[in-house]
Amino acid sequence: VKEEPTLSIIVVGASGDLAKKKIFPALFALFYENCLPENFTVFGFSRTEMNDEELRTMISKTLTCRIDQRENCGEKMDHFLQRCFYHSGQYNSEDDFSGLDCKLKEKEAGRLPNRLFYLSIPPNIFVDVVRCVSHRASSASGWTRVIVEKPFGRDSDSSRELTRSFKQYLSEDQIFRIDHYLGKELVENLSVLRFSNLVFEPLWSRNYIRNVQLIFSEDFGTEGRGGYFDNYGIIRDIMQNHLLQILALFAMETPVSLDAEDIRNEKVKVLRSMKPLKLQDVVVGQYKGHSKGNKSYSGYTDDPTVPNNSVTPTFAAAALFIDNARWDGVPFLMKAGKALHTKRAEIRVQFRHVPGNLYKKTFGTDLDKATNELVLRVQPDEAIYLKINNKVPGLGMRLDRTDLNLCYSTRYRGEIPDAYERLLLDAIEGERRLFIRSDELDAAWSLFTPLLKELEEKKVAPELYPYGSRGPVGAHYLAAKHNVRWGDLS
Ligand code: BG6
Repeated sequence: VKEEPTLSIIVVGASGDLAKKKIFPALFALFYENCLPENFTVFGFSRTEMNDEELRTMISKTLTCRIDQRENCGEKMDHFLQRCFYHSGQYNSEDDFSGLDCKLKEKEAGRLPNRLFYLSIPPNIFVDVVRCVSHRASSASGWTRVIVEKPFGRDSDSSRELTRSFKQYLSEDQIFRIDHYLGKELVENLSVLRFSNLVFEPLWSRNYIRNVQLIFSEDFGTEGRGGYFDNYGIIRDIMQNHLLQILALFAMETPVSLDAEDIRNEKVKVLRSMKPLKLQDVVVGQYKGHSKGNKSYSGYTDDPTVPNNSVTPTFAAAALFIDNARWDGVPFLMKAGKALHTKRAEIRVQFRHVPGNLYKKTFGTDLDKATNELVLRVQPDEAIYLKINNKVPGLGMRLDRTDLNLCYSTRYRGEIPDAYERLLLDAIEGERRLFIRSDELDAAWSLFTPLLKELEEKKVAPELYPYGSRGPVGAHYLAAKHNVRWGDLS
């Protein structure tokens, strides 16, 4: 009888925030849902000295059951924690990775070993760890896969360098570059909505769509992460990856199949059909301190880890165009910001007018206000709604703009897996659809690198906006230049 393979998941950087808040809880959720194979172990690896019990105590604090009152949750947690182990070591020490390898072998007990490494560590040590993994902790007979999280470089050159270094030690199909926005339920649903609904699929082009808006806002600043953030800024943190990935998925041609390579081929084509951004295509902002009632909020540069004269943007709006037959002339507007008035991520699709609209008199002169708009609210309160024109019931003829509304918490009882659960499961199963291929990454950097260079060389001063506001007014001018009104503000 052939033995079941074993799966070891090694979280490198186990004592860090991402590991505690996202990765261990996602692994537990997968275990809870019986999605992990029978023979699995989880290993934490980091520099902090800890024993297995201490790791268990540390991670038990952040493990949750998605629905509080679920049965057996405590019991399942205990079972999960018994499968968690720890090995401390330096990130660049091959000896320490050999030590880890010994412990892994012990648990694998001679069965076919598969190993998944999750690098939850700062980018300056990615290559050291990948080298140590490939020399000392790779699986000899099963597979070894490595999940890495952005930043994948700061620009085209550094990203290519990183890709080159990785490829010295790993093959492309061992590298899983994560963009956690691709694991979000509504982002995954984007293709389903488009390709499996006749009411949408034929409309997905310049013939019917006037503009597309990708909006990300957070109602908190960079508190505690200022030092990291100042080196990257919002364009690298959100736009070049999360929003651009959504754009590529949104705009791609129909892939030959749902196979990962077919989908990624189409996404790359979209990225390569776009022109690199120029200074006039963007507006940048930075939040400043603000008092509301008896509460006061610090500005970005008040953070002691951020230089006083920093011009790093915490907000950016950008207009992008896809130079192909489907999207010629359609503005794709992006907006991303920290310390704004609300936390929200959404995709907004504004449609054109109905030609020769019989009811145009009822709308007055502003026909644009009466066009359909499809909104995918990625978070929070996941929803899909379509703004339509409707007759207000009564004897007169008055039109109302109202919503056909699919609210996930009502329809699906709110049970939505965290993005990291889906992505970890996909990596375990070797499904690459939601991970970024190296040519995709390169195309994404090519779009933003010239702009980033220009912003930095010219030290372009960001427009200041108060903490908790709707962001710089410049974003409205940018939209207006392209005949667009931001849907989230109307
Ligand atoms: C990360 C960014 O990629 O995404 C953070 O580095 C940001 O700055 C985070 O806060 C937002 O993710 P989510 O899933 O909370 O919307």
